Amino acid sequence: MNSSPAGVRPIAIIGGTGPAGTGLALRWGRAGETIIIGSRDEQRAQQAAAAVRQRIGPQANVSGMENSAACAAADILMLTVPFEGQAALLKELKPAMTAGSIVIDATVPLASGVGGRASRTLGVWQGSAAQQAAELVPKEVSVVAAFHNVSADLLATDAPLDCDVIVCSDDPDAAQLTRELAAKIPGVRALDGGKLENARIVEQITALLVGMNIRHKGHAGIRITGLPPSAYR
Ligand SMILES: NC(=O)c1ccc[n+]([C@@H]2O[C@H](COP(=O)([O-])OP(=O)(O)OC[C@H]3O[C@@H](n4cnc5c(N)ncnc54)[C@H](OP(=O)(O)O)[C@@H]3O)[C@@H](O)[C@H]2O)c1
Repeated sequence: MNSSPAGVRPIAIIGGTGPAGTGLALRWGRAGETIIIGSRDEQRAQQAAAAVRQRIGPQANVSGMENSAACAAADILMLTVPFEGQAALLKELKPAMTAGSIVIDATVPLASGVGGRASRTLGVWQGSAAQQAAELVPKEVSVVAAFHNVSADLLATDAPLDCDVIVCSDDPDAAQLTRELAAKIPGVRALDGGKLENARIVEQITALLVGMNIRHKGHAGIRITGLPPSAYR
């Protein structure tokens, strides 16, 4: 499984109208990837795609579709929806997912989804939002957890990021493809975070970062140090 050359395999960003999805669309669109922004509302998706195209310029290959159409048109599915919508949406999209697709899940089960604090998380029976996703997709679809610790505010800028992306999956090929995509964002280093069960740790870090952002009025990210150069890409 290989993502290169850029743009050959479209990336559908499900729930791509929010800050996380549009930020990734902007960065990957700039890197030459073909992006389909998904939304529950086709018109909203097209508006978001037009805004991203305007930022990138005429070379941008960014379109907008309703989520299930976006899902059917791509085999790399980036999921950027709030935790409270994740399970129902995946159940709805399951019939549109083709065998061999990968779902890259950035969902953080923040307590704010049920009226709690954004600096706290909810317990998820499966262990993490990503593991919940893995239960809900067809068995021929791989789930990768990634991008939880990247600030959408910073993705929306033109500057390189100062952030690492930890990638967790039980499918090594899907994880490698995701690391390649992460490394296309300037300043981002992607690291193998091991099995999907480790997503529970990575998701929790986001709640910690949210608390720091509130206290210090910033856009915190993480850097992992001390590994040999071969660990970073
Ligand atoms: N924001 C960040 O800095 C950041 C960083 C890392 C990870 N994350 C995680 O990434 C995910 C998306 O973050 P975000 O800030 O972009 O979220 P968001 O703005 O709250 O939601 C993203 C999009 O999801 C769709 N959506 C909302 N509620 C839904 C529901 N109940 N069912 C289906 N779709 C729904 C909406 O699109 P439509 O209305 O157009 O369908 C919305 O624009 C979250 O799980 C978040 O924890 C966020």
